[in-house]
Amino acid sequence: MPTDTHKITFTINGRKMERTISPSLLLIDLIREELSLKGTKPGCLEGECGACTVLINGDAISSCLYLAVNVNGKEITTIEGLSTDDRNAPFDPVQEAMIQHGGVQCGYCTPGMVMSIKAFQEHCEANRFVPGREEIKKAIEGNLCRCTGYTKIIDAVESLFEGE
Ligand code: FES
Ligand code: FES
Repeated sequence: MPTDTHKITFTINGRKMERTISPSLLLIDLIREELSLKGTKPGCLEGECGACTVLINGDAISSCLYLAVNVNGKEITTIEGLSTDDRNAPFDPVQEAMIQHGGVQCGYCTPGMVMSIKAFQEHCEANRFVPGREEIKKAIEGNLCRCTGYTKIIDAVESLFEGE
């Protein structure tokens, strides 16, 4: 093995994997180019837009700023990992809420937005916290959407906590 490569093992969407990679490889390129998971979107590539958001050990991160070597031993979830094999309920509740509330227009921001909301939802549930609209706005402030004006996305997130 050349000295300028690293062997990493990680789990992605429930599948354990091993890869030998350059230390400068970005996580977004590992995901999109090497693993062909194209749901994670490139946007600004500068950590500003959130389009490339994925979960690492449950935390939302910008994969365009994250070196792939740092996923060694960790668990990655991309938008593809939220779908199920159930034909009657193929989507995660976050995806379903976004559809129901009209939070998706062109859809480019949607995978990253959904992953940030997912991390937020799990964090709130773990802490038995029901967020208000201001907390929801703060949770998604790193994800830019040029289409929706955010109101419908906030409605979608709010609906996840109804009845709690
Ligand atoms: S593409 Fe990563 S934050 Fe914009
Ligand atoms: S739906 Fe188009 S950028 Fe958000």
